[in-house]
This record gives sequence, C-alpha cells and structure tokens, in this order.
Amino acid sequence: MRIGLIGAGAVASLHAHAAESLPHVRLTAVCDLVEEAARKVAAPLGAATFTDYRDLIGSGLVDAVIVNTPHALHRQMVLDAAELGLHVLVEKPMATTLADCDAMRAACDSAGVTMVIGHIQHFLPEKVAADALLAQGECGAPVMVHDYRSTDYRPGARSAWFFSSAIAGGGALMNIGAHCLDRSVWLGGATAVSVTATTAQRFGVAVETDGVIQLELANELSASISVVSDAPRRIDELMVVCERGVITADPRRGTFLRRDGHTRVILEPSSSDIPNAFRAQLADFVAAVAGEPSRVSLDHSRHVVELVLAAYESAMLGRPVAVAERPRTSAALA
Ligand SMILES: NC(=O)c1ccc[n+]([C@@H]2O[C@H](COP(=O)([O-])OP(=O)(O)OC[C@H]3O[C@@H](n4cnc5c(N)ncnc54)[C@H](O)[C@@H]3O)[C@@H](O)[C@H]2O)c1
Repeated sequence: MRIGLIGAGAVASLHAHAAESLPHVRLTAVCDLVEEAARKVAAPLGAATFTDYRDLIGSGLVDAVIVNTPHALHRQMVLDAAELGLHVLVEKPMATTLADCDAMRAACDSAGVTMVIGHIQHFLPEKVAADALLAQGECGAPVMVHDYRSTDYRPGARSAWFFSSAIAGGGALMNIGAHCLDRSVWLGGATAVSVTATTAQRFGVAVETDGVIQLELANELSASISVVSDAPRRIDELMVVCERGVITADPRRGTFLRRDGHTRVILEPSSSDIPNAFRAQLADFVAAVAGEPSRVSLDHSRHVVELVLAAYESAMLGRPVAVAERPRTSAALA
C-alpha cells in the first residue's frame, strides 16, 4: 500500500516510521503547507513532497492517505480523497461536528473506500494490557473510571490553530479530552448516555484550557475525566475500579493491578511503546482496507465527537446533557 501523509506536524514522524516499519507499506508522498516540514519527513524515505493536498491525492502516487491536519480540515480532505478512491486513516478527533462525521462516512461508503480514525489509545501497550486484564475477568466488571490528564494550553505552548475554535472545534477537551473520552468509554464497556461538564478558560486564550467531564454509561458505570493545563506535574493516568481490584494505566509508569492489598505490575513501560502503537494502528488500518474489522469502529469515533460536543453544551447550560442511547453492539463499542 502506497501511503500519502497530509500534515507534517507533531506526530508525522511517528506515522512515517510506522509506514516504514510495516511490510508491503510505503510512505510515497508527504504534504504540508510548509514545504520544509513536508521535506523533513519525506526526504529520509525518498517520498515526494507537496504543499497542496489536492496535488498529492491526484498524483497517482498513493493508494491511501493519513489525514494528520487541524480538526476542521479533516472533512474536506476525506471527501476529496474518497472521491478519488483513496482509503483514509484520519487523526483524532474524527471531525468537529457530527454533520461532518456523517458526511465523511457517507462519502467513504459511497466511494467504497475504508476510513478508520486514529484513536491511538487502543494501541498503546499500557491500555491494551488493561483491556486484556479486564477481558480475562480476574477483577470482575468495571464499576468506575477515573481519568486525569494534564496538558498545556498556555499561549505559544502549541500550534496557533489549537486556540481557534473554528479550526480546532474547541480547546483542551476537543483535543486531549477526546483521548480521555475514547479510553473511558472503551474500557468502561458501554456508550455514554449522559454528560455533565464544566470548563475553564485561562491564560487569555480563546478556547477552554481545562475541563471536568462526568459520564454516565449505558451499563450504569460512572466515568470522571479531568483535563488540566499547566499542572504541577505531567499526569496521564487512567484508573478503572473493578469489583475485585483497581487497574491503573499510565504511559510513563505502566499498567498495575491492586488486588487484596497487593500491587502487581502488569506491564512495564518501554521507550518503544509509542512508535509501536503507531505501527499497530497503521497495521490495523491496512487490515481494515483488506476487509478485517478495525479495532476502532466509526460509531465509536463519532461517539467521541458527540461526547465532546455534549460536554460543551453541558458546560454552557450548567446541567447534564442526555446522549441518545445506542445499542450495545460489539461494533459500537470497539
Ligand atoms: N494520536 C496522537 O497522539 C496525536 C498527537 C498529536 C496530534 N494529534 C492529532 O493530529 C492532528 C494534527 O495535529 P498536530 O499536533 O500534528 O498539529 P501541528 O500543528 O503540529 O501540525 C499540523 C500540520 O498540518 C499542516 N497543515 C495545516 N493545514 C494544512 C493543509 N491545508 N494542507 C496540508 N498541511 C496542512 C501544518 O502546516 C502543520 O505542519 C490533529 O488531528 C491532532 O489532534 C494526534
């Protein structure tokens, strides 16, 4: 599979190395508005560079593209790629509105191409280990999820577009909260039916910099998510409280199980965890193009956007917002 990468920003080299490391996959083209950024990723692999994604998708050099650009741009890039018969792996969040999510899905369906959303959490070894532990049943059913992630939304701490609601679709919750919602719903084991949220807007920026989200899932589990900017220390901890034990998963510390007063190390972190996760994510996409079900369904990816938007609505209205309950099919929960 010949892959084109659109957007040569923060995680571009992880996508490029993933392509390089898989058999039967090659990164053949890279596009960025900033030519030098595209060249930096493309040159070591001998890939072509473009500054207009329409030239990349029309070049005949690619069978699929990775859409790795600001959130509100995902929609048009997917529509244009699908029209030319290209499969698409789209960075999270899927889009900034549900209408965009639906338009992207409809375009891919009618063009007969595969779309997968890159929810990297499903491939990070410490989360995969937590999922496997839950599936194995030793701890019983999950009864509560707590997810705390620090970030940085001070001006200048990240690319300028992240501070534009029109382009990013929101602030810390649309960007970092999307990861937390993804993994809380996934490991919580059911879609959310109610969302209550508060947000804070600090540092004089135009989007929310912090937020707290409380989810009620269809299986009656509660999930509590905090996203905090410029916290005293970097935190990225997902905790799943189960009937017979507590699991924590943290990319810097690993995965642990506390049971009957004893802590067991389930997975030690390794410096190759993140590159390996991007590789596994791309392998999953390649398999999906070949007809296998992806680990991350489009229903789930759309649900993540739905929950971010419900969180914004809840924060604005100052009350819980109900989310339509969808059937608990395995596809919807993947
Ligand atoms: N999976 C993860 O862990 C992870 C981590 C970071 C970002 N992301 C996601 O990746 C996507 C990109 O974010 P980022 O952090 O790389 O942002 P970034 O600002 O670092 O990079 C975005 C790049 O896209 C380029 N770009 C903008 N408009 C373009 C256009 N029309 N055509 C071609 N290139 C264009 C910019 O020049 C820039 O180089 C977002 O969806 C973000 O949420 C995912």
